[in-house]
Amino acid sequence: MTIGIIGAGAIGSAIARTLARAGLDAKIANSRGPESLRDLVKQAGPRITPTTPQDAAAADIVFLAVNWSKIPDAVAGLGPWNGRIVIDANNPIEAPLFRPAELAGFTSSEVMARLVPGARLVKAFNTLAPPLLEADPREGGGRRVLFFSGDDKAAKAEVATLIDRLGFAGVDLGGLVEGGRLAQFPGGPLPALNLVKIGPAGS
Ligand SMILES: NC(=O)c1ccc[n+]([C@@H]2O[C@H](COP(=O)([O-])OP(=O)(O)OC[C@H]3O[C@@H](n4cnc5c(N)ncnc54)[C@H](OP(=O)(O)O)[C@@H]3O)[C@@H](O)[C@H]2O)c1
Repeated sequence: MTIGIIGAGAIGSAIARTLARAGLDAKIANSRGPESLRDLVKQAGPRITPTTPQDAAAADIVFLAVNWSKIPDAVAGLGPWNGRIVIDANNPIEAPLFRPAELAGFTSSEVMARLVPGARLVKAFNTLAPPLLEADPREGGGRRVLFFSGDDKAAKAEVATLIDRLGFAGVDLGGLVEGGRLAQFPGGPLPALNLVKIGPAGS
């Protein structure tokens, strides 16, 4: 299983460091090219390779962590997705105004899904602030909860395995619409909650 990350800011780099800590390799890309990622790669270690968005998007699992308004440009030309898994770590709001994006009643993941036709979209990694996302998920005798949702059961199972491998307790919220609404920021009740699940792995 290969992993790509498109977006190397606060969330993309937190994901990269979390993957590297768990011993997983990933390729990461931004808009400015691999040279601009030299410092991140120095910190994250040799498991993280800077690359182009095209190359990162060719991975089996592709994290997307880009400013909401820039996502259409970021994914333009990266298809066909051919059933690859895209993890939507995005929220429909951004600096400096922090005004929620107009979604015409759709969840942000439904909007995202239209931008990556043919991908199997799983929403996850969008509810924790970067320092918590990259902190050791083993806390207080349990594991930090990480929510995921999606319509493709096999894709969700792969993402659940990855979440478990990273040390989090994955919690399946259901389909992209109902789960996406719960995990959406702003508006859903789950973002920013730092929950720890007590109990054996897999319980
Ligand atoms: N920060 C949080 O607390 C938080 C928490 C949960 C979820 N999120 C969500 O995660 C996403 C990323 O947020 P962030 O805080 O990580 O933002 P950020 O620090 O501003 O980073 C955004 C990244 O997107 C890249 N990017 C922009 N346009 C691109 C393009 N056309 N092609 C490739 N890469 C492009 C930027 O690359 P360049 O710098 O080279 O332009 C940068 O690496 C957002 O959707 C946000 O809502 C954020």
